[in-house]
Amino acid sequence: MKVILYMGISVNGYIARENGDSEWTSEEDLKGFEYHSKSAGNIIMGKNTYLYASRAGLLPFTDALNVVVSHEQIENKYGDKVLITNQTPKEILKTLAQKGFVTAFLAGGGQLNTSFIKENLLDEIYLDVEPLLLGKGIKVFAEGNFDIELELIESKKLNKNTVQLHYKVVHI
Ligand SMILES: NC(=O)c1ccc[n+]([C@@H]2O[C@H](COP(=O)([O-])OP(=O)(O)OC[C@H]3O[C@@H](n4cnc5c(N)ncnc54)[C@H](OP(=O)(O)O)[C@@H]3O)[C@@H](O)[C@H]2O)c1
Repeated sequence: MKVILYMGISVNGYIARENGDSEWTSEEDLKGFEYHSKSAGNIIMGKNTYLYASRAGLLPFTDALNVVVSHEQIENKYGDKVLITNQTPKEILKTLAQKGFVTAFLAGGGQLNTSFIKENLLDEIYLDVEPLLLGKGIKVFAEGNFDIELELIESKKLNKNTVQLHYKVVHI
């Protein structure tokens, strides 16, 4: 199972303002998110991302199975397009493999990203770097115990102001 993380970030590594707003990412970032999530057929997200996107009327995301990770039993208003689970990241990947998926698409937020990177479960990371500096907010990876080396696969300009960085995670 290949695991891809795709995130729109500020130049200084934030994915959302303090109030959870991440609707400042570019059209190109949204298109990339759509393309990769549709290709994978699934999107894994943390509870806070789910609740924010639900309030913003953005769910379910694309034509993919939306997997929401939480220790709580939160309400699913979206039927079988959304799967709410308290499984560990490793168990989630196993479940997706059993369902026939070959790629897992991780879409944040910062806490869930750290749950995956701490266990060295990511294979590729896309960061769409948006022209913004935020003094406060939610970081792309919440603080945690990890120290991971990356290799740059590609960097490209998505528009006048947005750069996409595509990394491979070095598994030692
Ligand atoms: N710019 C972007 O591309 C982008 C993309 C995605 C999200 N976002 C933004 O990111 C923000 C949310 O990020 P966040 O860091 O606050 O939260 P998050 O990672 O979305 O959700 C955190 C919650 O997910 C659950 N969780 C995380 N790891 C878990 C694990 N290993 N096992 C079980 N449950 C786990 C926990 O819920 P419980 O407390 O219930 O256990 C935790 O409190 C939102 O504002 C969203 O808009 C931005």
